[in-house]
Amino acid sequence: MAKPRVFSGVQPTGNLHLGNYLGAIRNWVKLQADYECIYCVVDMHAITVWQDPADLTRATREVTASLIAAGIDPEGSILFNQSRVPSHAETAWIFNCVARMGWLNRMTQFKEKAGKDRENASVGLFAYPNLMAADILAYQATHVPVGEDQKQHLELARDIAQKFNFDYGVEHFPAPEPLILGEATRVMSLRDGTKKMSKSDASDQSRINLTDSADDIAQKIRRAKTDPAALPASVEELEGRPEARNLYAIHAALGDETVADVVAAFAERQFSDFKKEMTERAVDRLGPLTAEMRRLMADPGHIDAILHRGAERANEIAAPILAETKRIVGFV
Ligand code: TYM
Repeated sequence: MAKPRVFSGVQPTGNLHLGNYLGAIRNWVKLQADYECIYCVVDMHAITVWQDPADLTRATREVTASLIAAGIDPEGSILFNQSRVPSHAETAWIFNCVARMGWLNRMTQFKEKAGKDRENASVGLFAYPNLMAADILAYQATHVPVGEDQKQHLELARDIAQKFNFDYGVEHFPAPEPLILGEATRVMSLRDGTKKMSKSDASDQSRINLTDSADDIAQKIRRAKTDPAALPASVEELEGRPEARNLYAIHAALGDETVADVVAAFAERQFSDFKKEMTERAVDRLGPLTAEMRRLMADPGHIDAILHRGAERANEIAAPILAETKRIVGFV
């Protein structure tokens, strides 16, 4: 039997951070064993907000290098950038005509990103989730590993698949399922445990980047916000302590443990102890990845060749699905 198909994407807007790694990419790597995996650097999503062209080019290569360094196998899996495969944009247009304004108006990420000045947001930013649905459904993918922040977009992708099938009386698109896996599905800022760790946070101290040196990592963890209470004796005691909860989740995920394991290991010890061990874990885990990424970045031609070949393979899957989509819609 054919393996079920996974699709996921990441935006090339600056460096990847620990949230991307623990919430998504680490799971992408694991899923390669049991699924047919298609992983995409979504450059078309990136330009929904302004990107300097040279920065976008560099970030696309850097993110690709990070994915390979993290363990994505560009031979076994398909790794490419979105703009090279026309099915994404073409399917997205059809979905622009399937999705309703009311559905998109409810998207919390749009509200957050557009802020108060909605009138000035790009149309692309508003239609962003339709393109995301197109990414997945252009391959008829059934499983989508993401962090928790993408859950609402995945629900929209399911609604679009269902409405398309209903309107045209077909069973063309499967309803894709989110795979939100591990102990760190929503990694929070190191400076504020109520805010998501994010590339767009003005403070670099708020996140650990996959390009950070061991010294940077140590310094950021040392300065990470905590609270004055003693280390928890049970998982319940983490409630109402967002910063401690976040550090425990990160430490657990980095070591493939549960938060309960970490609570047991540190009961009656000090935050300083905890932070020392957390730093060791983060450096052990990320150090080799950073080194490998730097090595790959020294040969951008090799990275471009991987993206080129990945796009060819992606297109082989997507082209016949798009042809069928167009036939269903009635395009001659
Ligand atoms: P992006 O580029 O913001 O993030 C890539 C992946 O990282 C996860 N993530 C996090 N997980 C835990 N904690 C965090 N603080 C954190 N920050 C980010 C995201 O959930 C995501 O899985 N719209 C998507 C990209 C996309 C996509 C797709 C994903 C485009 N098309 C199709 C899946 C399927 C995005 O902006 O992810």
